[in-house]
Order: sequence, then C-alpha cells, then structure tokens
Amino acid sequence: MKGLILSGGKGTRLYPLTYTRAKQLVPVANKPVLIRVLESIRDAGVTEIGIVVGHTAPEIKETVGDGSAWGVNVTYIPQASPDGLAHAVKISQDFLGDESFVMFLGDNVIQGGISPLIRDFDKNDWNSQIVLKQVADPRAYGVAELRPDGSIARLIEKPANPPSNYALVGIYMFDANIFEAVNAIKPSARGELEITDAIQWLIDHGYRVYPHIHEGWWIDTGKPIDMLDANSYVLDELTPSIAADAVIENSEIDARVTVQPRARIVNSTVHGPAIIGEDCVIENSYIGPFTSIYHHTTIRNCEIVRSIVLEHSSLIDIQTMIRDSLIGRKVTIRHNDQRPTGLKLNLADNSTLSI
Ligand code: G1P
Repeated sequence: MKGLILSGGKGTRLYPLTYTRAKQLVPVANKPVLIRVLESIRDAGVTEIGIVVGHTAPEIKETVGDGSAWGVNVTYIPQASPDGLAHAVKISQDFLGDESFVMFLGDNVIQGGISPLIRDFDKNDWNSQIVLKQVADPRAYGVAELRPDGSIARLIEKPANPPSNYALVGIYMFDANIFEAVNAIKPSARGELEITDAIQWLIDHGYRVYPHIHEGWWIDTGKPIDMLDANSYVLDELTPSIAADAVIENSEIDARVTVQPRARIVNSTVHGPAIIGEDCVIENSYIGPFTSIYHHTTIRNCEIVRSIVLEHSSLIDIQTMIRDSLIGRKVTIRHNDQRPTGLKLNLADNSTLSI
C-alpha cells in the first residue's frame, strides 16, 4: 500500500497567515499539520508516500525533504493548478501504479491514528473505503446519504440541503479502479474534478465502497477557529514533558505543560494544556490553557490564552489579555507609552484586529 498526501491549494480562508506559508505547514501544538498527517500514515505501516504540491512546493519540500527524518520515502507530484482532488489522483497514477493507496488531505487532523482503517481495508475485498463523521452543519463538505443497512446510497459535494449530517472526512482508501473513475468524471460547477463524484462513479458501476464512521474528533483546518480547535484537541492529548535544558525560574508550571528545549520561563505562570517552543523566552507573563507558542518567540509582561503564536514573534507589555488569537511569524506587538497615544498598526492584507 502507498500513501498520497494532498498539499496544494491557496488556503484563502486562513489569510493573512497563508499569504506567506502553505496552510498545511501551520503548526498545531507546535507541529505542522502536514507532519502530523505524514506520521499517522507512517504509523499505519505505509512508508512510500507521494505528496501532491502546488505553488507552495518549495517550502513544503524544505520542511519534509525526502521524508527520511520520519522514516518514509517521499516523492513529490506537482499539480500545476488546483483542479480538484480527483485531478490530484489522476496525475499521481505513475507514482501509485497498481497498488492500493490511502489518500489523506494535508490539512485534516483526526483523533487516533489510521491503523485500524488500513487494517480493515487490507483484510476486506473492498475497492474503496471512505471515512464519515457526523457534524452539525455539513454544507461545507462532501455529504453521504446512507441506506438503513448503513451502506452508501449517494454522495454529494457541498450540498445546500444536506440529506444527512455525515460529512466526508479527508481520508480515503482506494484500489486501482479509482483511475477509471477519475478519468470518466467531468468537472463540477466549481470547475474541479471532485473525488466525491469519482467515488459516486465507483458506486454507480457496482464497485464496493464501504463507509467507516469516525467517532473521535476531526478538524479540517480551513479557518482560524478550526486551527484553534485542532490546537486545543491535540494539546489536550499531548503527553507533557519538560526538556532537560529548559530553564524555569520562579514560575508556576502545571502538570499539563510541555516545555521544549532551551525555552526560558521566568516569573511566570503557565496553565496547561499548553506548549512552549524551543528557544522561547517567557517573562512576567501568564500563558493560559490551550496555547501553543512556537519556537524563538518572546513574551514579556503579557497574558495570553487559547491562542497560537508562530515563530520569532514578540509580544511585549500588552495590557489586555490576548485570547482566541492566531499570530503569525516575526510579528511584534508592543505597548507604547509615548505621546501621541493611539494605535499604530502595520498589518498585512486580510488581517483582523478586535479591540
Ligand atoms: C474536500 C472534499 C470534501 C471533504 C473535505 C474534507 O473539500 O471535496 O468532500 O468533505 O475536503 O476536508 P475542500 O477542502 O476541497 O473544500
């Protein structure tokens, strides 16, 4: 079995963070989502992995390399334009050959691994297995209508009136029959070759497609709120650890906090679940639950909860608590005592500031 990770797309809903970074590389609990996906495929015993990349290919290649750091062998498959998930399968045929494969969208985070799914697919003679999750509002996803016996009646991409609340999670297993399907379907109304339509084609042509209902949490990290939710879920499950070379002075760090190498925490309180990245400096501050501070960030005289701060940023002397925030790389936020008072801003396009 091979693995196929889709890591293209513009990530428009995460602007401005994704102007300068692939959305799959935004970290959740200090680890890029794409690396979490790679590790869960590897942990299921699949080590030949193709990554479909678009215009953010250079930074994805720089982060993942040949995959050897994670014990896998990575092949990059360039997709000239984001023409849909089924199109990504189509252009990966040379890499996949006749083997079965698991396709995992590089911006999906799910609870638990995919090992049981891969085992189920291996031991049955299914042509495809899909993963479904009940959600409150499935209109932004592919949606499955199930028969009373639990089999799939039909699949619809982003329906205005969903026939059920079973959303398609971005994890799919296929055998080589999927190539016939992706070559037969036509682009959807949004101009993409939809994987949902290709799976429907398999069903219509008598192939065996089985649904697995996922009971744990699942996040498609499309929007800032999704990133914060995914961050909370993952932090909640992280086994805490304090690096031997971290420096903690005159501070209160509770049992659910991870402190990474060379971080320095002085005169501060950190309430977990939270993670403080490598080479961070936290001084006279409060870091509250569900917060991830990525490496080389300085926080001095601030309070922050339920937020993600990316690398090389500085938050200094902020007198209001920062909460529910997503702060990019090399961002500086500092208090200014001098007159004239007032806000002095230098924000990127599509930034949001709630005062
Ligand atoms: C894609 C699929 C959709 C699926 C979703 C899961 O949507 O087309 O069926 O439910 O991923 O993340 P997209 O990310 O293209 O909006």
